[in-house]
Amino acid sequence: MTIHKVQPKLIIHGGAGSSLKGKGGADAVRKSLYKVVEDVYGLLVAGASAKDAVIRGCHLLEDDPRFNAGTGSVLQSDGQIRMSASLMDGAAQRFSGVINVSRVQHPIELAEFLQGSADRVLSDFGAAELLRELQVPLYNPLTEIRLQEWMQERQENFVREAAGVVAENELVEDSNAGYGTIGVVALDSEGCLAAGTSTGGKGFERIGRVSDSAMPAGNYATAKAAISCTGIGEDIIDECLAPRIVVRVTDGLSLVEAFKRSFTEAGASKRDFGAIGLDANGAIGWGKTSEVLLAAYHTGNQMGDTLDLSDGIESGGL
Ligand code: GLY
Repeated sequence: MTIHKVQPKLIIHGGAGSSLKGKGGADAVRKSLYKVVEDVYGLLVAGASAKDAVIRGCHLLEDDPRFNAGTGSVLQSDGQIRMSASLMDGAAQRFSGVINVSRVQHPIELAEFLQGSADRVLSDFGAAELLRELQVPLYNPLTEIRLQEWMQERQENFVREAAGVVAENELVEDSNAGYGTIGVVALDSEGCLAAGTSTGGKGFERIGRVSDSAMPAGNYATAKAAISCTGIGEDIIDECLAPRIVVRVTDGLSLVEAFKRSFTEAGASKRDFGAIGLDANGAIGWGKTSEVLLAAYHTGNQMGDTLDLSDGIESGGL
């Protein structure tokens, strides 16, 4: 029997944005998220480290074509997929990531490799070189629905700011459910924290645009707290959202208070994003200024989610 020094905790997200209008809507997303929570929480209970649990969770979410990361990533303005991912080990306080990488199934794997490297954040050309060095098989993450979404946008001359937060079962003409990304935050039985975030970006963006998901602004962890963000990357960067919440916890605020203060400020600044997090005491937190935050968690006793929050600015936790 595994003896836990602390009760493991887990929270994951599959993006934030405007309401889910597609077939299946919230129920289908909830089912996808709970499946990942169950799998990854099982690992934590069996004694996996927070870092390994986060990597596993990101893998599973990158593989789900519903979410905008790995398979099912959105296309940029030139019709190409470029993905970004990062991993932060809270115990080591070490960040690693890749920016705008193509033709890989699991961008988080590159971030994992870079945890042990002297050069820990690589952009497009360097990330492609790393893929070649590691002999990672080439992979095309394109899905039919994301291609159709891009073709429709091209006909309309890219008027939308971002692609759908989740890939619907079929193209939804009036869907404006933007801003997907996936993220996983874990607290392991040794009391260590980690955070991972992976994305296809906003969709329809200029070539070379850099996502918050491979920056500490969008993914940050220390020994005290760990946060993963989703939403409009530029807004997340402007608020320096993940470190903002972590520093507040470090300075003595509870996680829930740190979320509340940060999201009140973000609302006043008309930001459009969401975030999830844990602290070293096992508190679980979330917040959003966008209409929906697709997050689910495991407390040790039960699973829950944030899919039924109101449309307005909200933050909370357990
Ligand atoms: N948060 C994902 C992005 O803006 O790229």
